[in-house]
Amino acid sequence: MAKQHDIDKIRKSSAVFVIFGATGDLSKKRIFPALFKLFKNKLLPEKFKVLACARTKFSSEQFRSYLFENIVIKEKDGFDNFGKIVDYLSLDVAKDINLSHLTKAIDIFENEIETCPQRIFYMAVSPSILKDSFENFGKNNLHIGCTKHMNKPRVIIEKPFGSDLKSAQELNLILRKYFNDDQIYRIDHYLGKETVQNIFAFRFANEIFEPVWNNKYIDHVQITTAEYIGVEKRGEFYDRTGALRDIVQNHLLQLLSLITMEQPQNFRAQSINEKKLEIIKSIKKLSGDETQNSTVRGQYEGYLREEKINPKSQTESYALIKLAIENERWQGVPFYLRTGKKLTGKVTSIIIQFKEKGHKLFENFWESPLPNHITIQIQPNEGIGIRLAAKKPGLESSLEPVDMEFCYKTSFDTPQPEAYERLLLDVILADQSLFLSQEIVEESWKIIDPIENVWQVGKPKLATYKVGTWGPEEANDLIEKDGRKWLQPLLTICKI
Ligand code: BG6
Repeated sequence: MAKQHDIDKIRKSSAVFVIFGATGDLSKKRIFPALFKLFKNKLLPEKFKVLACARTKFSSEQFRSYLFENIVIKEKDGFDNFGKIVDYLSLDVAKDINLSHLTKAIDIFENEIETCPQRIFYMAVSPSILKDSFENFGKNNLHIGCTKHMNKPRVIIEKPFGSDLKSAQELNLILRKYFNDDQIYRIDHYLGKETVQNIFAFRFANEIFEPVWNNKYIDHVQITTAEYIGVEKRGEFYDRTGALRDIVQNHLLQLLSLITMEQPQNFRAQSINEKKLEIIKSIKKLSGDETQNSTVRGQYEGYLREEKINPKSQTESYALIKLAIENERWQGVPFYLRTGKKLTGKVTSIIIQFKEKGHKLFENFWESPLPNHITIQIQPNEGIGIRLAAKKPGLESSLEPVDMEFCYKTSFDTPQPEAYERLLLDVILADQSLFLSQEIVEESWKIIDPIENVWQVGKPKLATYKVGTWGPEEANDLIEKDGRKWLQPLLTICKI
């Protein structure tokens, strides 16, 4: 959360926050709930206006009622006051219809508050219309800041940034035609999650982990994002995208980089992104054969019957890839990254499994040694668990695994801000440290593209899996042939 002096800075500033795609899923589920909570907690600038834009024909009044009905938030107290700062404009940014209304609305707000607010544009629209939208920004001079003084606008873009390296580069070209790097905020909302930010503290503010954070002690790492939900109303987008591009290219590679990168010099965006880039560059790109042997793609039963899904679709709703990092610290340590929809539950976790040493002394205490592992549970029940071997009480001598836990819920009584609250505040404060650089996006595509190319020709075969399981059998085969097994994320961690 922002520090006190940052909050003062925010309150004294002014901003106009334009959301394109204001009636979409992302707006209802993430952007508006975050803005509403920031508003309620008095964390937005005192002079703040939200201009919600979409194609639907609504008056501002109608939109506010629509928003009240549809915003995904439990506590709607105080919504009336929030509604007063939201106006609606019916326009089409990709087709350049009514964009002049937006310019006018911004002018009116600027005249009303007699100052030059920070202009922020949130592109919560389909990636396929971004190119046209930015060209239309240009035509309508929206990329130019307030005319009173040159307060440069900021633009927020959602992942995935492009659908491969080439399209990401094209998108960047068009963006850079109108904006400088310091105006572009590429969101990966996993970076705004409290537990993800805690990875830095865990690794670099404690002395005890760094000496063992390497291939001498770590056997392998498992990174999982499992979802209970299916594609829901996003069939059209999802069927074009798939799990590899939707989650692995961004969220999972980001988690991998935070776990493995070297310590940055400071918390500035440049330092962090430099170290991240370094580690992402050292991830080995998979060859065709390696893709066949080290990846699994799956589709849940019933996927083909979902709304707006091609009935012959070969798109994966489950992806597993095994990666290696080619540097001194990580040489020889496999990283298993997996994600899937309609799995057994909702959990995101990173499990670091340590090597098993012989422990001759305890030879008769257990059938086989119990390896230690650290679980960083990002959601739900945020916390960290360390699995240890302990002597079972009693007259017999035997060892059992036990978990030592740190749980956010019990250790701190301050509420955890949602990822989007944190990230939107950072945009207002012009802090890019939790946002992605273009280089990171491109390097990530360089890892994904070769896999995607092999998958596109049907290799390995698309596996199916039952709803409510941990995914296809092939995922077990892959890890078991390495002599390892899935350490199912401790869904019980921090359950109080
Ligand atoms: C989004 C993906 O980036 O992350 C969705 O597009 C996915 O498919 C979502 O459901 C998961 O986010 P979270 O925060 O609920 O884990």
